[in-house]
Amino acid sequence: MFHAWLLDRPSGTFHAELVELADDSLPAGDVLVQVLHSTINYKDALALTDRAPVVRRWPMVPGIDGAGIVLESRHAAWKPGDRWILNGWGVGENHWGCLAERASLRGDWLVPLPGRFDTRQAMIIGTAGYTAMLCVQAIAARELKPQDGEVLVTGATGGVGSIAVALLARRGWRVVAATGKADQADYLRALGAAEVIPRQQLSEPGKPLQKERWAAVVDTAGSHILANACAQTRWGGVVAACGLAQGMDFASSVAPFILRNVTLAGIDSVMQPLAARRAAWAALAEEVDSGQLEAMAHDVRLDQALEAARRLMAGQALGRTVVNI
Ligand SMILES: NC(=O)c1ccc[n+]([C@@H]2O[C@H](COP(=O)([O-])OP(=O)(O)OC[C@H]3O[C@@H](n4cnc5c(N)ncnc54)[C@H](OP(=O)(O)O)[C@@H]3O)[C@@H](O)[C@H]2O)c1
Repeated sequence: MFHAWLLDRPSGTFHAELVELADDSLPAGDVLVQVLHSTINYKDALALTDRAPVVRRWPMVPGIDGAGIVLESRHAAWKPGDRWILNGWGVGENHWGCLAERASLRGDWLVPLPGRFDTRQAMIIGTAGYTAMLCVQAIAARELKPQDGEVLVTGATGGVGSIAVALLARRGWRVVAATGKADQADYLRALGAAEVIPRQQLSEPGKPLQKERWAAVVDTAGSHILANACAQTRWGGVVAACGLAQGMDFASSVAPFILRNVTLAGIDSVMQPLAARRAAWAALAEEVDSGQLEAMAHDVRLDQALEAARRLMAGQALGRTVVNI
């Protein structure tokens, strides 16, 4: 038996409950794992609070991220005792996830835990940090460097935002952090932000071309914030778009793309091939500062996951929520 959060709609009404399940209720997989740590990402919070159609089949164990130890394996790459990380692949959406003591997963989905991290640190990073690294790599792939100008990070106090601020500052960028939390400027400066601007400067509808400022952008917000970020990006700049915290819509024009050569780089962490995941995690192992990771971490127990998800949805969460399982 093992404990897990179970989401269900038995007669149309949504339920999220911490329950005890039998091992033989786990879905098919070639690796049986013990989950030591998980986390509450934005998507987990949506699923746990039934705010958006994240869950594709019922009942579902949520948790798109996990890190732990292999218990049993029929996969050539994994043996009992190996330490693994899982991000995405539809886990917690289509396949039972990691807000549970045990999970049955596919060996092809797992990345070896880099020796530099323990499972808790890996989950402070989680999908949020791995996505932040994909954004940073998308900017670097277009040959943009700190000497080219400033980088804007939106939703800066969130999970993706906090880690993006820290990673970009460490690479030498002058990071401008946009936030809705005026009282968290010190937190963002400690992560490496050179300047903190109010989110409201970007959140209203604006002109398709505005004064050029950003050499690059990491956007976690979508909607008007993304449109304004594109409109303010300098000739030849890159906007890495990974989120929808303001909204799914994108009311803009092609002007920044055809008149300023701006690249809109879409970032999806869920279906990245294994090689890209390993490269992102290797770069995280090189570049993440352990002290900064601690500064953004908030620990909760498995039974507190729903409460933590509600806080995140209410916009009260800061940095990264780690679930100690
Ligand atoms: N593409 C991918 O593969 C991928 C992977 C991970 C996450 N994401 C997406 O990226 C976004 C951020 O994820 P996360 O894990 O960092 O979530 P998070 O920890 O909840 O952070 C989101 C941040 O967005 C800002 N925000 C909240 N409400 C907002 C609003 N109404 N308008 C504008 N900004 C708002 C807040 O930061 P401030 O108060 O500092 O502004 C908040 O902390 C989410 O939309 C998530 O779904 C996508």
